[in-house]
Amino acid sequence: MKTLYFFLLTLCGVLTQDREFGVKYPDKPICAVRRFSVSIPCSYSYPQKHQVEQKLWCSMNSNTDVCLNPPYVYNSSSNTKSDFEFTGDDKSDCTLLIHNVQFSYSGEYRFRFITNGDRFTGKPGVTLQVTDLKVSLIRLSGNGTLKQGDSLNLRCDVNCTHTSSQFVWSKMNQSLNTSGPVLHFPAVTVRDSGKYTCTWKTNKTSGSETYELLVEGDGLDQWAIWSIILVIILILVIVAAVIYYRKRVEAQEKNSGNGAEKAKDAENTHDKQSKPQLSSVPPLDVETLHEEEVTYATVCVKDKKPAQGRDYTGKQKEDDSVIYSTVINT
Ligand SMILES: *[C@@H]1O[C@H](CO)[C@@H](O)[C@H](O)[C@H]1NC(C)=O
Ligand SMILES: *[C@@H]1O[C@H](CO)[C@@H](O)[C@H](O)[C@H]1NC(C)=O
Ligand SMILES: *[C@@H]1O[C@H](CO)[C@@H](O)[C@H](O)[C@H]1NC(C)=O
Ligand SMILES: *[C@@H]1O[C@H](CO)[C@@H](O)[C@H](O)[C@H]1NC(C)=O
Ligand SMILES: *[C@@H]1O[C@H](CO)[C@@H](O)[C@H](O)[C@H]1NC(C)=O
Ligand SMILES: *[C@@H]1O[C@H](CO)[C@@H](O)[C@H](O)[C@H]1NC(C)=O
Repeated sequence: MKTLYFFLLTLCGVLTQDREFGVKYPDKPICAVRRFSVSIPCSYSYPQKHQVEQKLWCSMNSNTDVCLNPPYVYNSSSNTKSDFEFTGDDKSDCTLLIHNVQFSYSGEYRFRFITNGDRFTGKPGVTLQVTDLKVSLIRLSGNGTLKQGDSLNLRCDVNCTHTSSQFVWSKMNQSLNTSGPVLHFPAVTVRDSGKYTCTWKTNKTSGSETYELLVEGDGLDQWAIWSIILVIILILVIVAAVIYYRKRVEAQEKNSGNGAEKAKDAENTHDKQSKPQLSSVPPLDVETLHEEEVTYATVCVKDKKPAQGRDYTGKQKEDDSVIYSTVINT
């Protein structure tokens, strides 16, 4: 019974024990990668009868007054937006989230708060280190441009000592099955080319950096592929040309064949037409010819000299020409 009473009394005393003014930060410096965000964990306490009126964060870089007076990077009473965001509360959390960290943000930060009864600054403050994440290529074999079969490491460096940080590698958003700051390639291939991203993570911040790996083709491979494609195209062109040419020749032959036949036909018809004509017409014997000439001569003569015509009928062929010429002349 006595012990129970004592226990309750102790419990009561513990529960009612008043807290003291205080601020707690991480002991070690906090590392942040430039352009990324970092969260600075912080907790604070004060006697329970007090009420928090103002919460302030100051940077020892810009504040020469040990944070007793402005400027502050954060002031809960002013609504100015900046890279410094308070993500805590009015009770015990005073976490500060810094966006888009710059090198100039490096330094010591202190939390100060004002209650309805008192004011308090946590000192010493917390230190922020800003760094760049670097991805570097380390050749393990070969020199000059990267070629297939070369051995290399991609190493991710962050210039600050951090106990529990994690490196995650990814290629084109695809997470790679490795952990640690080094990505090892025993023998690169063309397919290893691409953008590799190293992401560095702690539970307060993260950062990432990308490196583009360019592995040159064997030369032979590319050449072989292009040569094969070229040869195929050439063969196709040649085959097409040959087929076209043959068709043309065939067509021409057909045409010219027809033409020849037609020509022959034409010749034949001509012959047939002309020869029978010739043959149908009875060969002119001297007599008929003579007669015709005579008639002609007669007609001619008749026109001009009807009287002489009659005389001429009985005359020889040799005279005809003379008469004819005379007729022409007249
Ligand atoms: C915080 O900002 C408010 C409004 O601008 C100002 O009245 C107050 O004095 C500031 N606090 C300190 C401690 O300077
Ligand atoms: C590559 O390394 C070899 C020996 O390791 C050397 O003889 C050669 O000159 C180097 N070539 C270049 C381009 O550095
Ligand atoms: C790393 O940080 C230290 C101090 O924090 C600095 O002296 C050094 O120049 C940095 N090195 C690089 C490569 O940034
Ligand atoms: C790849 O990463 C970029 C940049 O981080 C992001 O915008 C994009 O949505 C990602 N794509 C996929 C498919 O995850
Ligand atoms: C990832 O690596 C582990 C060991 O390093 C291995 O057991 C596992 O099969 C790998 N997974 C894939 C998908 O490569
Ligand atoms: C973050 O890491 C710190 C030590 O660096 C550890 O004490 C804390 O519990 C961790 N927080 C989370 C949420 O993992």
